[in-house]
Amino acid sequence: MNDELIYLDNNATTRVHPEVCAAMEPYLSGACYGNPSAGYRFGKQARQAVERAREQVALLLNAQAEEIVFTGCGTESNNTALESALRCYPQRRHLVISATEHSAVEKPCEALQARGYRVTRVAVDGEGMIDLEELESVVDGGDTVLVSLIWANNETGVLAPIEEAAKIVKNKGVLFHSDAVQAVGKVDLDLSDSAVSMLSVSGHKLHAAKGVGVLYVNRQVRFEASMLGGGQEGGRRSGTENVAGIVGLGKAAELLQSSLVGGGHQQAMRQLRDRFEQTLIERIPHTLVNGHREQRLPNTSNLCFRGVDAEGLLILLDNAGICCSPGSACSTGAVKPSRVLTAMGMSAARARSSVRFSLSMFTTEEEIDRAVDLVEQAVGKLQIVLPAGGGPVVRHT
Ligand SMILES: Cc1ncc(COP(=O)(O)O)c(C=O)c1O
Repeated sequence: MNDELIYLDNNATTRVHPEVCAAMEPYLSGACYGNPSAGYRFGKQARQAVERAREQVALLLNAQAEEIVFTGCGTESNNTALESALRCYPQRRHLVISATEHSAVEKPCEALQARGYRVTRVAVDGEGMIDLEELESVVDGGDTVLVSLIWANNETGVLAPIEEAAKIVKNKGVLFHSDAVQAVGKVDLDLSDSAVSMLSVSGHKLHAAKGVGVLYVNRQVRFEASMLGGGQEGGRRSGTENVAGIVGLGKAAELLQSSLVGGGHQQAMRQLRDRFEQTLIERIPHTLVNGHREQRLPNTSNLCFRGVDAEGLLILLDNAGICCSPGSACSTGAVKPSRVLTAMGMSAARARSSVRFSLSMFTTEEEIDRAVDLVEQAVGKLQIVLPAGGGPVVRHT
């Protein structure tokens, strides 16, 4: 590992917490390799570990253990939620999502459109917020299969009013799913008395390993499995469990639960993020924050450096040891400007000048101060300033 690296791309993935690694170890290289479905004691040890992890995740979400279904990733959880709704209500042909969903909801919906379903994308305003009245007006109790809204946007960190939205949708007799992959562990979620029907979680976004996720399924809603086979996860997701991954996710949930209760790491991340953002705004002219300043994850800063090509900036920052992203990591390599930022009404030029920085509980003050200096230097090399009232273009050196 590079000591000089400043990792500010935690919305793409996070470092596995050392205590998570330690919890997983016996199930990877140690003696606990039994199959949780086996009837003998050796298998039962693995079963107990999986069930303990289920309790730990349920506690973080304030849900019931029986509502937790382990999956392979956030993408699988999102796809499974959509598929289940379609199977439960085969006569319905309409879905509602927001215009700023992650591709793990947007792409399956595009595929459903190609199969003849209607998909309504609720617009967002310039700060990335959806309008609940508009949501209410487009949900059709007779024809809408599912409403799916992202809890915290992966590019801007903007938080949606999920509980209010879920209540509106539930009152219309329609299932409600939320992609909460970026929200879990960064903001408090309480599903104990929730109108949310299903909710997606991903292990690698919260300091657990890659290849494990969760679909929360409210015990009062109908569910139809996509993955059929050995009947694991109460028949809701067949396939031999990723025991080590699940144990690690349980441990990560426990660690987050203890720090969320004290507000500890959320508050620390927010302070560091604000310090990073404010200093850059003060030092670099024309720096803009993309997304709602308050209704936002405490770890995310999506900044537009006007006149700067974000792709070029990322190369300079990479050379300086900073990892950050031009938007969603999943869209890296695509030349199109961010779909999320353009849905917020931003010009292609503004979207192409925008960079996402995302912190974690491991980000230090020293790293933030160093990152500010390095970003300032890199932007200075690239920024083209257009003085007010016209005049010659000045290129910073
Ligand atoms: C909001 C959101 N949903 C879903 C996913 C997909 O999660 P996974 O990588 O676990 O499939 C991501 C990952 O970037 C995400 O940010």
